[in-house]
Amino acid sequence: MPERARTEVASTPLSFYLHVPFCTTRCGYCDFNTYTASELGDLPGASRAGYVDTAITEVDLARQVLGPGAPPASTVFVGGGTPTLLPPADLGRLVGAVRAQFGLTGDAEITTESNPESIDAAGLARLREVGFNRISFGMQSVVPHVLATLDRVHSAGRPQQAVAEARSAGFTSVSLDLIYGTPGESMADWERSLLAALAAEPDHLSAYALIVEDGTRLAARIQRGELPMTDDDDLADKYLRAEELLTAAGYTAYEVSNWARGSGHQCRHNLAYWRGHSWWGVGPGAHSHVGGVRWWNVKHPASYAARMRTGVSPAHARETLSAADRRVERVLLELRLLDGLPVAVLTDSEQRRIPDLQARGVAALNGSNLVLTITGRLLADGVVRDLLD
Ligand SMILES: C[S@@+](CC[C@H](N)C(=O)[O-])C[C@H]1O[C@@H](n2cnc3c(N)ncnc32)[C@H](O)[C@@H]1O
Ligand code: SF4
Repeated sequence: MPERARTEVASTPLSFYLHVPFCTTRCGYCDFNTYTASELGDLPGASRAGYVDTAITEVDLARQVLGPGAPPASTVFVGGGTPTLLPPADLGRLVGAVRAQFGLTGDAEITTESNPESIDAAGLARLREVGFNRISFGMQSVVPHVLATLDRVHSAGRPQQAVAEARSAGFTSVSLDLIYGTPGESMADWERSLLAALAAEPDHLSAYALIVEDGTRLAARIQRGELPMTDDDDLADKYLRAEELLTAAGYTAYEVSNWARGSGHQCRHNLAYWRGHSWWGVGPGAHSHVGGVRWWNVKHPASYAARMRTGVSPAHARETLSAADRRVERVLLELRLLDGLPVAVLTDSEQRRIPDLQARGVAALNGSNLVLTITGRLLADGVVRDLLD
């Protein structure tokens, strides 16, 4: 770790992302780094049973690399893949390793992702007992033909039931993920999903436009003409409808794709990414960032386990961002947040472009910050391109 990055460790909040690279089946649209049991076979080191012990050795490595000046972790996020395919006790040991090595701040946010069909009420109670206080369920849709196109295996209705079970178990923050724009999804279908999600009264909602990722089964089906390609105008209309219904129900978009019921329910872990804090990503393919140094681990669980077993760093490659790179990233990420971007971060020539963005109705000034309007949110990447030198 270069000295420059090390000096930022003590003064910047620290987060941990813990990746669990296992799923029961692969959804046709997903290109996350995750593997089914048959894809992994019996490759040495790739078993679900041994995974947590391997990942814990990386938490120990993080302690050595970040040194004694590292602060306690303020957020921990277990993501996947499907973390809840592992027993709650194992996920608890993973969080326990972070607690043992770094400590946790008194108000630490400890989240796990979960597929609703991979957990029951007893499992949720166990997750609470082992220290999780936040849970995010992948709901995606309630409409059977949309769930079928997405290859989702849960029955419509199970995610809402899981939210109620999480509440009974004592989770203080519960989130649902939705996807819009699936081929064949009508506006009425999307409204049904939004209303069903709202009826479950989650504290937080993420709504993602479906991305057709190269190499996925979904992309192949579209290429063969079996399904129509997603349509930008349809995606924009569905985004606007989501904003309308969610705002009316008391949720605020604190980031382009994320809504919370009150600022206390914003996902602090995601905010740490967007604000350029330090985070260590544990596990195969996980990305990390500390003080302008970014690195990412080898992708395959077996190669990852082999590295950890032989005491070799799991990092596959790294890059050191220049001050100019970091500023561009800051503009890109902070402009997507409700609070927007302090104008002072922009150069003089960039600041001179603000009136034009205002005239086009894509951005506005809020005190000394530049914020996106609702039209600007639909065009966020283009607005950033037009703004930057
Ligand atoms: C990687 S998943 C992990 C959580 C869990 N396995 C699940 O699927 O519910 C996190 C979220 O990413 C979103 N996602 C994954 N692939 C996507 C894609 N191609 N387009 C849009 N959203 C996607 C889904 O909403 C999903 O809930
Ligand atoms: S369950 Fe989640 S991580 Fe697994 S394949 Fe489906 S979308 Fe991807």
